[in-house]
Amino acid sequence: REVMNGELANAQVIVVSNREPYIHNHEADGIKLQIPASGLVSALEPVTRACGGTWIAHGSGSADQEMADSEGRIRVPPDNPGYTLRRVWISEHEQEGYYYSLANEGLWPLCHIAFVRPTFRAADWDTYRAINERFAKAVVDEATTDSPIVLVQDYHFALLPRMVRARLPKATIITFWHIPWPNSETFSIFPWKEEIVQGLLGSSIVGFHTQFHCNNFIETADRFIESRIDREHASITLSGRETFIRPYPISIEWPPAALGAQKPVAECRSAVRERLGIPAETHLAVGIERFDYTKGILDRMLAIDALLTAHPEWKGRFVFVQAAAPTRSKLPAYAALQAEAQRLAAEINDRHGINGVAPVHLVIRHHDPAEVFELFRAADVCIVSSLHDGMNLVAKEFVASRDDEQGVLALSTFAGASRELSEALMVNPYDPHSMGVAIERALTMPAAEQRERMRLMRDLIRNRNVYRWAGQMLLDASRLRKKQHVLEIA
Ligand code: F6P
Repeated sequence: REVMNGELANAQVIVVSNREPYIHNHEADGIKLQIPASGLVSALEPVTRACGGTWIAHGSGSADQEMADSEGRIRVPPDNPGYTLRRVWISEHEQEGYYYSLANEGLWPLCHIAFVRPTFRAADWDTYRAINERFAKAVVDEATTDSPIVLVQDYHFALLPRMVRARLPKATIITFWHIPWPNSETFSIFPWKEEIVQGLLGSSIVGFHTQFHCNNFIETADRFIESRIDREHASITLSGRETFIRPYPISIEWPPAALGAQKPVAECRSAVRERLGIPAETHLAVGIERFDYTKGILDRMLAIDALLTAHPEWKGRFVFVQAAAPTRSKLPAYAALQAEAQRLAAEINDRHGINGVAPVHLVIRHHDPAEVFELFRAADVCIVSSLHDGMNLVAKEFVASRDDEQGVLALSTFAGASRELSEALMVNPYDPHSMGVAIERALTMPAAEQRERMRLMRDLIRNRNVYRWAGQMLLDASRLRKKQHVLEIA
């Protein structure tokens, strides 16, 4: 807010993402509002609330059109409007090519180096390009000045920065890539790699979560397009235009809004155990995320299996709850994961269930932020076992939810968050045995040690919160604008 009121006082901010922050759906009892399970939304929403301006996103809810004006605009948040949400409409057929196929069967597994072979089809690339054009046009429509600050989000819009640059040459375009960027060798299999890198280089700044991903991107540009690389200043110049490549580790708001309405930890503990039908003194571990194959959900179940095999004394005294929001379920890799997770949970429960206590509870549905925070507060351990992850905000939300300074975070070394939350218990999700040992260690960790670790992690997130993430980008934007101004008057 300070940056917006100070250095960027008269600037217009336009955010562009595929996922919208508020979804309106028809339900049996009328139109209901849903807040999607999305790290991008939980990070960007508070920032956009603070900056004002316009957020352009795909209108995906069944009642979205009714809740917007004829141009797709609606003021949000619904209870206290502070910015405009401009919904862009995408047909089902286009959604297949742009979102499900190119973005989520192509770029998603490619960038996560997941063990799901990326799929590329020329027709999907055409749709992806057409949707990027549509959103670029929406940005230009919404711009009320010739030099807005455009905040482009994620791998759905790699071509958009260049398209916007062609029409608004003076815009400050900051593109944030929310997922990893693999090394140049891996990226080289993408059939349209040159176009995608050139598209991104329409930005003034391209941001990633970690320095490692910045280096990978610079390497990729160096190898596949004709450009000038300045490693000292981490910039790439293409056709006379310089783009800076910067790490901005994303975070969460502090304190999180969802914490406000929470009951004391003791009440959350008993409410959740009662709801699950498990004894009050049961130790609880939780995993909460979208049902995605990059999150290592099967792997953490295998770790629970290893733990209960090695330590049968935990049977009946320990329960693992996996809350998983269905996501991209049309895609075979996602449907297969869901089926395999259900099969594995049943097998583990069969093997280790005792006295009516099943060790694995798989709850497949959307959980709203209040429920997520209640689960976090009820848990002894939170398991984040991503096979590969840009940042992972679940890890940060768990820490933020524990104002009692108790609870242990078991965190994959392959999540960007592990670079910052070094007091978590680090786990290798590819090794169920060692992950089982780490979960046991978490379950038996003395309260004093939990407190010490929690305090350090909470201090870090309090300081490096999402406002700092956005503030740093906006400060960098402001510096670039000043530089541009000086060059113009020189
Ligand atoms: O951060 C990666 C990301 O794909 C975001 O772009 C997205 O909002 C989130 O994960 C959830 O995915 P989806 O929007 O496909 O449900």
